[in-house]
Amino acid sequence: MRNFVSVNDICDLKKALDEAFEIKADRYKYCELGKNKTLMMVFFNSSLRTRLSTQKAALNLGMNVIVLDINQGAWKLETERGVIMDGDRPEHILEAIPVMGSYCDIIGVRSFARFENKEDDYNEVILNQFIKYSGRPVFSMEAATRHPLQSFADLITIEEYKSKPRPKVVLTWAPHPKALPQAVPNSFAEWMNAADYDFVITHPKGYELDSQFVGNARVEYDQMKAFEGADFVYAKNWAAYSGENYGKVLSIDRDWTVSERQMSVTNNAYFMHCLPVRRNMIVTDDVIESERSLVIPEAANREISATVVLKRMLESLG
Ligand code: CP
Repeated sequence: MRNFVSVNDICDLKKALDEAFEIKADRYKYCELGKNKTLMMVFFNSSLRTRLSTQKAALNLGMNVIVLDINQGAWKLETERGVIMDGDRPEHILEAIPVMGSYCDIIGVRSFARFENKEDDYNEVILNQFIKYSGRPVFSMEAATRHPLQSFADLITIEEYKSKPRPKVVLTWAPHPKALPQAVPNSFAEWMNAADYDFVITHPKGYELDSQFVGNARVEYDQMKAFEGADFVYAKNWAAYSGENYGKVLSIDRDWTVSERQMSVTNNAYFMHCLPVRRNMIVTDDVIESERSLVIPEAANREISATVVLKRMLESLG
């Protein structure tokens, strides 16, 4: 696997899950694989879980790690080609990327949607420039449209906790005061469709996701109806995707906050969220603190998904 930006790069999900459980049983099994190899993690946006779990994964594999926070101590980067650079951005990304590539063997990039230009966001202009110009294998640590390391960890978690082969999984929109990208719900939908679970998406009208990610999921606008019989509830906020509303907050209706009211109609569902989460906006204290909440094991599985991905990338370096 040269690059990892979506579920398509992982190919056979069963094989990937087998590798994940092998690594979970012995996370240092491949500790020689990354000897004298360097991972560079480049963050255009903040992170707690991705930063720590990916670094831990690289250490599990014996790699060296360099972390660069673009907004803290690096030169401000110009990302548009053709501009006259007379502003406050002294370095162009077209030089910065190959320079970064010259110091490492693999690059991880976090670059969220900016909500300035939908086409740029959905064409993944930043991530794709790393793939094109770094000369190194690149993986996404959450890009504009997907968060595949998170979705892989989510899948591992569901496989660990499910009690039937094809559980009912519900992705629900929940309110948030700020505009958040669609990367997590897009990616989660893509992986749930690939896993062929009984998959339902629920959100208020106006929050429809890009159809390429919705795929075969059933969309149900009545949240209570969607929750009926659910085995897993995955909550997430996202800003509007469609038309002129792209990137806008259309609702902060706290009737959509996941509480005991909705959980009571499920099949004693497990609660999931990628974190960080705003309590009593996305989910009530009692639900996130309940014994059916998987948010901590889900976050812990980020180390496992990252270890599998880095292992595969190291193997393809030869
Ligand atoms: N879930 C997740 O990616 O967390 P961070 O934003 O803290 O990395």
